[in-house]
Amino acid sequence: MKLTILGGGGFRVPLVYGALLGDHAEGRVTHVTLYDLDAGRLSAIARVLAEQGEGVPDAPVVTATTELDEALRGADFVFSAIRVGGLAGRAADERIALAEGVLGQETVGAGGIAYGLRTLPVVTHIARRVAELAPDAWVINFTNPAGMVTEAMSRILGDRVIGICDSPVGLGRRVARVLGARPGEAWIDYVGLNHLGWLRGLRVGGEDLLPRLFEDDRLLGSFEEGKLFGTEWLRSLGAVPNEYLHYYYFNREAVRAYREAERTRGAYLLDQQSGFYDEMGRPEAPALPAWHRTLAEREATYMAHNREAAGVGDRDEEDLESGGYEKVALALMRAIARNERATLILNVRNRHTLSVLDADAVIEVPCFVDAAGAHPVSVDPLPYHAVGLVTAVKAVEREVLAAAESGSRATAVKAFALHPLVDSVTVARRLVEGYTAEHAGLAYLRR
Ligand code: G6P
Ligand code: MN
Repeated sequence: MKLTILGGGGFRVPLVYGALLGDHAEGRVTHVTLYDLDAGRLSAIARVLAEQGEGVPDAPVVTATTELDEALRGADFVFSAIRVGGLAGRAADERIALAEGVLGQETVGAGGIAYGLRTLPVVTHIARRVAELAPDAWVINFTNPAGMVTEAMSRILGDRVIGICDSPVGLGRRVARVLGARPGEAWIDYVGLNHLGWLRGLRVGGEDLLPRLFEDDRLLGSFEEGKLFGTEWLRSLGAVPNEYLHYYYFNREAVRAYREAERTRGAYLLDQQSGFYDEMGRPEAPALPAWHRTLAEREATYMAHNREAAGVGDRDEEDLESGGYEKVALALMRAIARNERATLILNVRNRHTLSVLDADAVIEVPCFVDAAGAHPVSVDPLPYHAVGLVTAVKAVEREVLAAAESGSRATAVKAFALHPLVDSVTVARRLVEGYTAEHAGLAYLRR
């Protein structure tokens, strides 16, 4: 079985390869093709994978290419994990929004819209090439902003594209842990859009354990989301929000903390990762230790400004092991390839799951997965406050999709202006000015 990884020079690829190395069952991945625009990054990551695979007799064979079509031919699965514009692009997305006093973040608010506008034309092209060259392949999309990217690709690939994110799993795992349940045996009632969802229940053997969490202040305040949002706010919501909702519920504090920070997350990672790739350019440097060290630093500083704004300390020890999105990806791939039934929280088309959205809207929801793909499970409706956010943000995503398709500047302005975290149409216009002046990849927004 051949797996193609788009963005194969990316820093998280060794996590995926590490997970593949642990799979010895029949039907496992035997060939991995790494595709990236940057040959230097490709060879750096290929070196890390080679060290990982040392001494593993059935290690998947790795090849690397900078040609998209070559990478796609013969693929059974395609992992799409690209970062259009690189970390420099992300840093600019964040900086330009913050300069206007609104949230500049990788996937949320103005920063996320800018990233979407830059990314959608590229992923649309990729989806067309997949449809042409590997029409039976399954595309597992990690590329952010994952919700709108998956929706854009689904317009071409239908249900053959499935979006994934590690944040709902991480949340489920933390809540299960404090409740003394084994994450694997718990049914997680979670729904929303990517980076905009709520955990409303955690059932083990038919019993919802979540009420126990809300009854116990010590438990409720003992894990990441409890600290970030505060127990009182979690009680008011009666649900545990995805950590990314901190940018909504504590927007002023988050924007202030981000503006006061010496540099944005993207700028920090740009420095940090360039260090790693430079080091890998020196052939005598051992690849794996350098990669582990860089990953550990990255995980330890994840959402540090939000934790600072909320007055909470370091991340919990258990959360420092990296997210686990590679585990979701692998579980998903196995369930499809071997028809092993699994339940996973995924980004798929809504069908009739949330009645406030149309059937084609990509949502994040628990799904049954088998050889026929991912099937969203029916869930309770969202309360109105959540419906408000979900529909407002979906409306924005649709404007981003429309702008990417038409090249209309007015539509791009509309996308920014309608976002709940952008508070003025004037600001939206200035954002479009600022972003198009910065990013060559937005030159298509002419009219
Ligand atoms: C989580 C999210 C990803 C996001 C990442 C950012 O894993 O689910 O969608 O890209 O955090 O982490 P970073 O270290 O790049 O800030
Ligand atoms: Mn994510």
